[in-house]
Amino acid sequence: MAGQREVHEQVERRTIGAGGLAVGAVGLGCMPMSWAYSGSRQRGEESVRTVHRALDLGSDLLDTADMYGPFTNELLLGRVLKERRRDAFVSTKVGLLVGEQHIVANGRPGYVKRACDASLRRLQTDVIDLYQLHRADPEVPVEETWGAMADLVRAGKVRALGLCAVGARGGRRSGSGLYDGTLRQLQRVQQVFPVSAVQAELSVWSPEALQALLPWCAARGVGFLAAMPLGNGFLSGTLTPGEGFEPDDVRARHPRFTAEMMAANQPIVAGLRRIARRHGEDVTPAQVALAWTLAQGRHVIALPGTKQERWAAQNAAAAGLRLTGKDLAEVSRLPAAQGSWD
Ligand SMILES: NC(=O)c1ccc[n+]([C@@H]2O[C@H](COP(=O)([O-])OP(=O)(O)OC[C@H]3O[C@@H](n4cnc5c(N)ncnc54)[C@H](OP(=O)(O)O)[C@@H]3O)[C@@H](O)[C@H]2O)c1
Repeated sequence: MAGQREVHEQVERRTIGAGGLAVGAVGLGCMPMSWAYSGSRQRGEESVRTVHRALDLGSDLLDTADMYGPFTNELLLGRVLKERRRDAFVSTKVGLLVGEQHIVANGRPGYVKRACDASLRRLQTDVIDLYQLHRADPEVPVEETWGAMADLVRAGKVRALGLCAVGARGGRRSGSGLYDGTLRQLQRVQQVFPVSAVQAELSVWSPEALQALLPWCAARGVGFLAAMPLGNGFLSGTLTPGEGFEPDDVRARHPRFTAEMMAANQPIVAGLRRIARRHGEDVTPAQVALAWTLAQGRHVIALPGTKQERWAAQNAAAAGLRLTGKDLAEVSRLPAAQGSWD
């Protein structure tokens, strides 16, 4: 156990939320192990090893959701948590139901409470460290859903609450700020129970959250969990334009992953690679992308997703990479990403 503590020192610790939750600055996004990426379902044993490796290195925030799989991602984590609960910070989500052809929101209080019990069983634990509302249900006032989640804290089943704003896109179309709706939702739920963390996309090629959402969190001591910090893998520079994606891979329908857009966005990867080289031969563009994310505030936790042990190790090491003012200025001068959902 003492040996394990020593290795934990490898990833810087950060404190988020009013309750002072301490977690590794680089966590582990577990979604690619069971959902949204090609080959997800065939790599169970490697995924289990990846979770162990991340925990060994101090990437202790394991981010999952009941809908990943659905359910199989939590089951997979449960296999590890059964043995190593004390080494992990368990972050899961509620509020989205996967159907045959579609995904629907369900924020009804009774459902939320049943879903939490089911997550606890799958995760083989008696408490969830961070319980996040995956998407608000348009049919249910968000205060009611959040109130049910707060009851779960009072019941000792959950330690803290978070809100996800991944996929917030409506604002851009209507001409207002991308996260205006999220900010209104946050104000409403704060009246009911404190928000400990907000999860939204943040990366070199999707920096929109820097404008209002990150400052909102910083001003209130709310943690910011950066989802998709590697731009779905693009920013690592390991993908080739035109390589194609399986139909079950989210990138097969992603506007930035057509052969044309991947080629057009290569200057972004080239810029990250240039900065990486200045820091050492074995430093990678993925690590620069993660270090950039962590440099956006002490309340930011990066959640790179992977099912591969080698990449979990590489990503954990990014917590030790300090970008200079020159590096950060260089990133800010990179061209804006091409390819949009609008
Ligand atoms: N709240 C939400 O609605 C929401 C939505 C999206 C994501 N998230 C969270 O955010 C996490 C991260 O998002 P994401 O996984 O979609 O995107 P991401 O972290 O930007 O990229 C993941 C992709 O990058 C690859 N990768 C990871 N590390 C790498 C490295 N060092 N070098 C080369 N490639 C690397 C992975 O490959 P392999 O799969 O082969 O390892 C995977 O294909 C998710 O796991 C999830 O926890 C939340």
